[in-house]
Amino acid sequence: MASAIPAADLRSFSEYLKTSKRIIALLGAGISASSGLPTFRGAGGLWRTYEATDLATPEAFEANPDLVWQFYSYRRHMALKAQPNRAHFALAELARKRKDFITLTQNVDGLSPRANHPSEQLHLLHGSLFNVKCTSFYCSYSRNNDFTDPIVPALAIPKNLPEPTPSTGDKTGEEATRSLYNALGIAEGEEVDISDDRVPLKGLSTDLLPHCPECKEGLLRPGVVWFGESLPLQTLDTVDNWMKAGPIDLILVIGTSSRVYPAAGYVDKARAKGARVAVVNMDRNDVGSSGLKPGDWFFKGDAGVIVPEILQSVTGEIQ
Ligand code: OAD
Repeated sequence: MASAIPAADLRSFSEYLKTSKRIIALLGAGISASSGLPTFRGAGGLWRTYEATDLATPEAFEANPDLVWQFYSYRRHMALKAQPNRAHFALAELARKRKDFITLTQNVDGLSPRANHPSEQLHLLHGSLFNVKCTSFYCSYSRNNDFTDPIVPALAIPKNLPEPTPSTGDKTGEEATRSLYNALGIAEGEEVDISDDRVPLKGLSTDLLPHCPECKEGLLRPGVVWFGESLPLQTLDTVDNWMKAGPIDLILVIGTSSRVYPAAGYVDKARAKGARVAVVNMDRNDVGSSGLKPGDWFFKGDAGVIVPEILQSVTGEIQ
């Protein structure tokens, strides 16, 4: 396929990449849109119909654990059905080729780990859909990499509703959002009140939701970072130490609207350590609050196509 990337940009970036030593990538939902998963703020993104605060806060979980679990159960299901794409594989290969390269992902979908991205070079800033932890104040139980689908029988997709299915033809995750809202029983584009009882599983008895096997009392919750919560401290420390360890050559900013902090703040932090910035995005406006500077690159298009191409000078061809 003919490349949509201007040849001069591809050349200058490839040359710079070859000599770059300390590199970071910051990933957002757009990289997984190439695998058919929904984004949040893009056209048709998840937060376009539902308010994020209705589904992704500790208060929402406290008020409606059934609805919040239902939302996350569908997202687990879709993420398991999706496959990592060539961008995830290219970054994993870059990590094997450059030991001083780290990836910070805001994505909770497990696609970078499933592309075998070396785990010590991958930092999950917002946790994972496949981690769960106990909500009891007195219990510290958690478990990682639980791929059971559905996580409990009551969270299976009701037989009368369409399966939310990722499609790789869906370059912005728009179809995936529609499919997920269908599964939640909500018409496309409709503003939904959280108390709406058309939500199919609303009112599911708390007894049927996942419970802690250790304390037997607490409800389990998804091991993701919700609005109002801090990012995992150990991850933040590890990343900060890496950033302090020396100058940074390059930060790749892939498929993120760069609107959510502290994640988006890594771009300016890397810049302060000397990094040049390369943004890969479908939308020319999504370059972060401080914009692009001379010497930066903007690669417009689908991450699944662009990323393997711009990394090829180091990674070789990615199948
Ligand atoms: P957003 O939905 O805010 O942004 C997705 C970005 O991907 C947009 O800039 C799109 O233009 C771009 N995009 C869409 N399809 C693309 C494709 N195929 N190739 C390249 N770019 C594409 O998602 P994030 O920036 O990841 O947090 O959002 C950050 C955080 O906000 C998420 O981690 C989540 C959300 O609320 C929590 O849930 C805590």
